[in-house]
Parts: sequence; structure tokens; C-alpha cells
Amino acid sequence: MKRMTTSAGNPISDNQNSLTAGARGPLLIQDYQLIEKLAHQNRERIPERVVHAKGWGAFGTLTVTNDISKYTRAKIFSKVGKQTEMVARFSTVAGELGAADQERDVRGFALKFYTEEGNWDLVGNNTPVFFVRDPYKFPDFIHTQKRHPRTNLRSGTAMWDFWSLSPESLHQVTILMSDRGCPVSPMHMNGYGSHTYSFWNDAGERYWVKFHFKTRQGHQHYTNAEAAKVIGRTRENYQEELFGAIENKDFPQWDVFVQIMPEMDAEKTSYNPFDLTKVWPHGDYPLIELGVLELNRNAQNYFTEIEMAAYSPSNIVPGISFSPDKMLQARVFSYADAHRYRLGTHYEMLPVNQPKAAVNHYHKDGAMRFFDNFNENPDAYYEPNSMNGPQEDPSVAEPPLRISGDADRYDHREGNDDYTQPGNLFRLFDDGQKQRLFNNIAEAMAGVPEEIIQRQLVHFHRADPAYAEGVARALGIKNQAVKETGDSK
Ligand code: HEM
Repeated sequence: MKRMTTSAGNPISDNQNSLTAGARGPLLIQDYQLIEKLAHQNRERIPERVVHAKGWGAFGTLTVTNDISKYTRAKIFSKVGKQTEMVARFSTVAGELGAADQERDVRGFALKFYTEEGNWDLVGNNTPVFFVRDPYKFPDFIHTQKRHPRTNLRSGTAMWDFWSLSPESLHQVTILMSDRGCPVSPMHMNGYGSHTYSFWNDAGERYWVKFHFKTRQGHQHYTNAEAAKVIGRTRENYQEELFGAIENKDFPQWDVFVQIMPEMDAEKTSYNPFDLTKVWPHGDYPLIELGVLELNRNAQNYFTEIEMAAYSPSNIVPGISFSPDKMLQARVFSYADAHRYRLGTHYEMLPVNQPKAAVNHYHKDGAMRFFDNFNENPDAYYEPNSMNGPQEDPSVAEPPLRISGDADRYDHREGNDDYTQPGNLFRLFDDGQKQRLFNNIAEAMAGVPEEIIQRQLVHFHRADPAYAEGVARALGIKNQAVKETGDSK
């Protein structure tokens, strides 16, 4: 039997009765262990993620099945058969830590690969596009998804007001309100890097790249009514399904693909390839096989391995980098900042975040600096030094990126076609899918002022007149979009 101790290792004689003056008397302050227990309990919670608070995760491997080394020098892709350990975290966006898993929402699809050149994080979603294309609008958008300051309820009015004033959101709104907005489990959905990233190879050539993870379990979705039943039964079905499948050795897998665009093509495409509200047509940039992602190990402890996982798009490795996508640029800053607040200065050294590669930097001291603090070579605590401290390695320098233009605040809506791609997606849906889309939108618009609804119908109409017609029919209201747009039928 292990002997119980205080956190300082002192043996404890009684963990049932607190120390009092007499059997019925008040407590004594010298009952340090009682005080310690209460104080620790008050510190059990850390701030939840400001978005994507509710999540489910597991460990696994990426296995390379196709040689893409001509595009990238990233060692993780260096040869067919290569396996890299990783940790995945899936999430909903808007709900808090205790939210029901089955709510209609975009799902996060965050992956951390422990490569030999440090951690590579791909922090994507189950959708290839996003609601906004300028990060200036991200906090505003998120406010519309969270609780109203007065009612403390989520507000359909806020959501549709914002979306109807932000036509770039139409593509993602169409996906969210379609079947894909309510997958039955994390295993039954695709993942996407969503942004355009870059690859660069040993010859210093750059390619733009998009990542796709296609579920091998098949797509499965619930309707709103089915989802409501699930939530009535359990609020934790994603955790049950993912954890249960892995415990039963029924390991979920995804086929991994990339779309590759030569650097200079970016100047030729009719759309901005760095616009996060657009996809790249597969006809122009076909999917190229890369590998297989498999989740095959549950965390031993949810809090330390999943809740404390810290993903950041700033974690890149030689051969993989960013792109001019404004949204990605902002995320490169935002996540590490969030982790310093949520987890503390040295969050990268928590076991789940700790790279498997050597870590050598000159950051010094700070709260909880429990790991090496220049112990091995105490003279090399600044750089440059002549004390054999770690040095930069110019061989991993990214090729220079040609950029031009005047510094200004450019109107991201000017000359941007926000309707063709959502319209194309709508036209791909069969009748049943279209009807469910109309119904889901109508339900989500309950209580929203008609003026806002009519403004949104104009966007649906511009994507496809049948889209606006169908939503108006589901709502039982007159569709003013034809009149508003001046279109004749
Ligand atoms: C989580 C910011 C856009 C996917 C977060 C967190 C922040 C954040 C602060 C919480 C991090 C934490 O506390 O651990 C932003 C900003 C964005 C943006 C500023 C735009 C400017 C996006 C986009 C995607 C995305 C476009 C997907 C393509 C995720 C995911 C998580 C997350 C998956 C959860 C990661 C995890 O499982 O820990 N985001 N985000 N975000 N974000 Fe974003």
C-alpha cells in the first residue's frame, strides 16, 4: 500500500476528520492539509479555450504512402512508409466546455505531429473554408456565436445580422447549415487544413498547398431532430464514440491528400488562392495522395493530454510554411498568445506539447521553469556567445518570398465573387440535401427580424435563385430577393 502524503511528501495520519478544538469545536488553522485541499480545489480549473472549448482527442500516427518529396524537404514526408506520432483534438467552435457534443457547428480538426525537426501543427476544421477572410473580423464574428451580454443566451439575430452583412460568410454558412454541419462523430467527417500553406523543397522552389483528410469511416450526419434525440440521451456522444472505438481497437483512419499549386500560378487564378472563403477547384489542382492518418491510442489522462494540448499554426518545420493568407497570418500570432494565458509561459514543455526533437533556445527563467535552465552549459545564456551555445542553422532558411504593394487597408470585398462557389456547392446537393439545408436555415432563423432575413435571402438568391426560394418557402415568408436584386425571373 502506498502511504498518503502531503504534496511536500509528509505522511498523513488522518484524511477523514479535520482538526478542531473539541469534538464540536471550530477548526484550527494549523490543519494545513485541510487548507491545502481547499486551496488546490480552487485551482483545479484553468481558463477554457475562448473558442473550441469542448473537445475530444486521441494519439495516433501519420504514415506516408506516396512520395511528395519533390515539393517539400519536410522530413516527415521524406520517404514512403515513414511513420510520425501525433495527437489529434476535435472540437466544436461555439459551445463551452460542458456543451453537448452533437450541436450543429463547425468542428475543429487540430493535429500535432511530433516530427524529428520539432512539432508541426495543422490546426484546421472539418470545412475547407471559413466565415470571414480578414482577421479584423474574427473577434466580431465569434461574439455573434457566443452569448448575448444581457440575455446570456445565444442569439440567432446576432448571427444572421453579421452573416447578412458579411457576404463572404455565405460559403461556410451553406456548409454549416447542410448535412455536414452535424456529423455523427469525429470519425465520420473530413478534415481540412483550410488555409493555403506553402511547401518548399531542397532546390528552394515554393509551392502553395492545401491539406485534405478524407474519412475512411464514411460521412454520416444527423438531422436536427435526430441530433436533439441524441442530446436528450447523452451530451457526450463524441467522447463515447471516439474513446470507445479506440478502446475496442476499431481505429479510425483518414486518407491524406494535398493540392499543390506552383508558386507563380497564384498570380493567374481567377480567384485569390489565399482567400480562406474559397476552395481551389479540384479540376485545376487535383488531390495528390500523401498518406494515412490513424488514431490508435487514447490519452491516459484527459486533462493533461487533451485539455492541455496547445496547438498553434506558428509551429512549422523546414519545408512547410505560411502563405500570404491574412487569416493565417493573424493565427500565427494568436494561438501562442492564447496558450501563454491559458496554460502558462512554458506550455510547450508540458508533456503533450513537448517536442520529440531537441529543444535549444535562450528563453530564460519564468514561472514553472522546472526543466533545463542552462544547467548543462550555464555560461551560454545569451547569443552570440563563444561558449558553445546553440547556434542558428542557415541551411533551414526558407526561400525569399516576393511581395510588393503599398501599405494600406484594402477593401477585401472589392471585386471578390462571394456567390459562385456557394452556388456551385448548392447545385451539387440532391433534392433531399437541399430540403434539409432549407429547413436547417429556417430553424436557425427563428425569431430573427424579417429585415435581416430578407437581407440574407438576397445573398442566397445571388448564389442561386432556388436557394433563396427554398429558404423563404421553409420560413413561410415572401421572398423579396428578386425585387431587391432587380433580377427578373
Ligand atoms: C482554437 C483564434 C481562425 C481552428 C482557437 C483559439 C484561439 C483561436 C485563440 C484557442 C486556442 C487555445 O486556447 O488553445 C483564432 C483566430 C482566428 C482563427 C484569431 C482567425 C483570425 C481559425 C480557423 C480555423 C481555426 C480559420 C480552421 C481552419 C481552430 C481550432 C481550434 C482553435 C481547431 C482548437 C484547437 C484545439 O483543439 O486546441 N482559435 N482562430 N481557427 N481554432 Fe482558431
